[in-house]
Amino acid sequence: MGCYNCHGQPPLKNAPTMARLAEKAAKSRGDEAALKKRAEALRAGALRRPIAAHQRLSPEAAELLIRWLSEGAP
Ligand code: HEC
Repeated sequence: MGCYNCHGQPPLKNAPTMARLAEKAAKSRGDEAALKKRAEALRAGALRRPIAAHQRLSPEAAELLIRWLSEGAP
């Protein structure tokens, strides 16, 4: 879905690496409510800047990706 275009190694400009995203998401591991909240924030463009690739995600896809990240992006 193009995530690695920005979050790859090296990352695009100021985008965090996948490892960094996984580290952040891991704080919500096992916490369903927190994972949902992170997924919604991503989709809603509630970060410092809105990113089209984030906002295009369906609620299901966003949640799946956050869950995957929270497990260390295996
Ligand atoms: C056009 C570049 C770009 C693409 C493509 C992109 N991202 Fe991002 N993403 C960013 C940037 C930049 C940030 C940091 C935003 C900020 O902190 O303001 C970010 C932040 C994030 C965060 C951190 C949210 C948080 O809680 O801080 C997650 C998770 C994330 N992206 C997941 C994804 C996933 C999954 C995809 C693929 C569907 C994706 N991104 C595609 C640029 C991108």
